Amino acid sequence: MAQNGSVVVATLVQHRVFAERMVAELLIDTELDPENATLELHQCLLPWERSGITEEAPEPWINFKTVKEMAADVGGVVVIAHDFAEHMAIQSTFNPLKDMGIPVAAGFGYTPHNTRPRTNAAMTGVTYPGMFEVAEKWIRSLRCEKPSYVEFGTLEGRTMSLAWQFLNEIPNFHFVAFDSFAGIAQPMEDEAWLFPEGSFYANRATFEHNMAVCGVDPARLQIVQGDICETAKPDSSEMVGVDLGQPTLINIDVDVYAPSRQALELLTPHLVQGSLIIFDDYDAFGADPTMGERLALTEWVEAHTDIEVEPYRNYGTYGRSFLVHTPNGRGHKDADGFKSWTQGDREAESEAEARVNA
Ligand SMILES: C[S@@+](CC[C@H](N)C(=O)[O-])C[C@H]1O[C@@H](n2cnc3c(N)ncnc32)[C@H](O)[C@@H]1O
Repeated sequence: MAQNGSVVVATLVQHRVFAERMVAELLIDTELDPENATLELHQCLLPWERSGITEEAPEPWINFKTVKEMAADVGGVVVIAHDFAEHMAIQSTFNPLKDMGIPVAAGFGYTPHNTRPRTNAAMTGVTYPGMFEVAEKWIRSLRCEKPSYVEFGTLEGRTMSLAWQFLNEIPNFHFVAFDSFAGIAQPMEDEAWLFPEGSFYANRATFEHNMAVCGVDPARLQIVQGDICETAKPDSSEMVGVDLGQPTLINIDVDVYAPSRQALELLTPHLVQGSLIIFDDYDAFGADPTMGERLALTEWVEAHTDIEVEPYRNYGTYGRSFLVHTPNGRGHKDADGFKSWTQGDREAESEAEARVNA
């Protein structure tokens, strides 16, 4: 049985050296007292549901059931998968632990960034770290007294940790995190095949644990917990005392339409000229404009004709970012000579309509 205060590491990766290296990266600066904390590294068999193995696994392997039993007594669990499919299996396999409030850090795609990742010019705007690096440079070019990073959909804190690593040295910068920690909620019928209800499920303990590991100053991070469709309203009880400041970088990563739309609505009066909005899944669903974050942005722009957006960098598989032009901003459509993407689109549409009607 594991000792209280220890971290159990369950790895699906069969190369122990590789696993140990990932663990070392994951656990730098944990809050555990190094004198008393122990690290228990176990190689696991595949989840028994998939492998059919329910009995004791042969040494040095243990099975997932044992990890679960051990985890009830420990400070945290780090699970390492070797590919995305494995990672997704882990997400739901460990839901019972997440429900118990035990930090579960899954070490594949969602590994938090304990230190600032190294990037180079060729990566900017292509990879996730590259996107955050270019965002940092962009934000430093804006004149804001109270700049903030606002993220909708934090899961275990991978992108929040990136934001921290790249932005925390900007004067007066603060961070706001919105999540229910309950996974995808109310996807549209056509969205659910890719993002089923309840998928991408973390817990607040994991998020807070990862933030501590990454050195995030809790005084500079506000967490708004709950369904964004309810919480992301100026008069919701969860927003009492929450200061959005001037959101210079906004990350919308809730995957589906409804909370993305609500997030944009909440932000509208707070945006500044040059606010940068990144949409993690803009091109999901085969870039279908009738759903997801893409639909949310289109509708929002249509509802706020005084706001313009202009495409900026693309990143990852589905991610795109956009610059915002506010009504009093110098890049707005009323400014001489400026023609943004949305205005261009609208003009092209009316020209096409005029041609049809002619
Ligand atoms: C893909 S994950 C976010 C990943 C994270 N940004 C990262 O890169 O590590 C999606 C997150 O959105 C949250 N989410 C989805 N719909 C939500 C809603 N209606 N209200 C609150 N949170 C929601 C889920 O709980 C989940 O944590």
